[in-house]
Amino acid sequence: MKVNGKDYRTIWREPDSNKIFIIDQRQLPFDFLIEEITSVDEMCTAIADMHVRGAGLIGASAAYGMLLVAREAFTAVDFNGHLKKAAEKLKATRPTAVNLAFAVDKIFEAVKPGLRKEEIVVQIEEAAERFANADADMCRQIGLYGAALIEEIHKKYSERPVNILTHCNAGWLAFVDYGSALAPVYEAHRRGIPVHVWVDETRPRNQGSKLTAWELAMEGVPHTVIVDNTGGHLMQHGMVDICFVGSDRTTRTGDVANKIGTYLKALAAKDNNIPFYAAMPSSTIDWNLRDGINEIPIEERNQDEVLCFEGLSENGQMRVRITPEESQAVNYGFDVTPARLVTGIITERGVTEANEESILARFPEKS
Ligand code: MRU
Repeated sequence: MKVNGKDYRTIWREPDSNKIFIIDQRQLPFDFLIEEITSVDEMCTAIADMHVRGAGLIGASAAYGMLLVAREAFTAVDFNGHLKKAAEKLKATRPTAVNLAFAVDKIFEAVKPGLRKEEIVVQIEEAAERFANADADMCRQIGLYGAALIEEIHKKYSERPVNILTHCNAGWLAFVDYGSALAPVYEAHRRGIPVHVWVDETRPRNQGSKLTAWELAMEGVPHTVIVDNTGGHLMQHGMVDICFVGSDRTTRTGDVANKIGTYLKALAAKDNNIPFYAAMPSSTIDWNLRDGINEIPIEERNQDEVLCFEGLSENGQMRVRITPEESQAVNYGFDVTPARLVTGIITERGVTEANEESILARFPEKS
């Protein structure tokens, strides 16, 4: 996608070197900084401290992280042991997004038994590249399927823009390219369908007001930032036509884990008969789980993210405390929206109802 008119992905590598490049998302929207990652420890920090974030991107980061591990392990006595240890470390950086484990497992699948170390490194390099490309391709497909939903609404109300509400950032910054929830928006915009996006600010890390708003601005998509509590009011007054959210882990039954606060939006959408879609590549579906509320691990992050606020002042970026010194906070990163509140799931294979039968009809190999 475009940054100041130039095409970027969120992660890329320099061929034949130990250098992976990422956009340091902590600095957006105020600074656009490229960070160089040269070791698996640096990659673990980048994932845990959210230089990179979003389900698809942390998956791709883990895949490239495995390439760094393979190069680092080259001189180690126990090459395979080194790979396995680092894989566990990468998987533990963020517990909710299943793409992380999926990516690491995919890399191991590519390593066929009996190969020499040099051959393993080449296999991992190719697998990491394939993984990143597949993430981008899946998101592009999601855009095509989701745009059809926007087009339907446009046919009904052609005299005004289609109003879409989204929570957090499930745009291209959360993946390798295109995004999940925002891919349909970009595709509709490209087709000339007038769209307007309500952007939930998404406290505490403000992925909405910082990242989604920035992405949309870069692509010239009309949007308005709202505080997280505004969505219900807009829905009651006919100002939202459809909701698109992403997912960090979805069960085979259609329960959707996404950024904290998504559940409340789904409840309000249900109460107001507004379609609520969750978009995700199939790498986000955890085929082992059926009961999202009780089985999906929910990441708990540092309370400082809630107690403080980060933004731009006249003196540059700064962090200010917004609560009494004595107050404690709790910081759950995600919640689970039960399938009954989800109108549909958009994957690279099309739009399905949020239930096991419909999802499996698209993915019969998982039956
Ligand atoms: O904590 P983050 O920023 O990594 O959370 C991920 C998200 O941005 C959202 O939950 C998103 O809607 C789904 S990830 C594509």
